[in-house]
Amino acid sequence: MNSKEEKYQLLTQQIGALIAGETDEIAVMANVCALIHETMGFLWTGFYRVKDGELLLGPFQGPLACMHIAYGRGVCGTAWKQRETIVVPDVEAFPGHIACSSLSRSEIVVPLISPDGEVRAVLDIDSKELATFDSVDRHYLEAICRMITHPSDL
Ligand code: SME
Repeated sequence: MNSKEEKYQLLTQQIGALIAGETDEIAVMANVCALIHETMGFLWTGFYRVKDGELLLGPFQGPLACMHIAYGRGVCGTAWKQRETIVVPDVEAFPGHIACSSLSRSEIVVPLISPDGEVRAVLDIDSKELATFDSVDRHYLEAICRMITHPSDL
């Protein structure tokens, strides 16, 4: 079994090859979340896109999820507002956490910030175990999100 870091390294290479030259954001997000989800075995992996002043559910893998999240609400809306990654080791300890699945125990949310400085979307990942996400997840998931928002750097 490869280490988490080895899995992420391979994943990052695959995503780079997969999205190079692609311009449709939804198509890219769809395959990126499928690859992350299948490789890492998370409970839920998906994107919420900023649309009409709220977060709207985008491409995802996993169980049914809530469709609308307001600015500053839940982990996703907070990551949008703070414009930075939020790692939640125990969702029950995060004030205002939005429970889409009762199986979710820990979570990471990474904002996608476009070159003009706007938050365009967030990547949200949930785990069935407590404290799944650490600085390794944060490092690679932020790099993957940057590949989506800065495709010309690929
Ligand atoms: N838990 C998130 C809501 C989205 S679902 O987990 C898919 C939040 O608190 O923002």
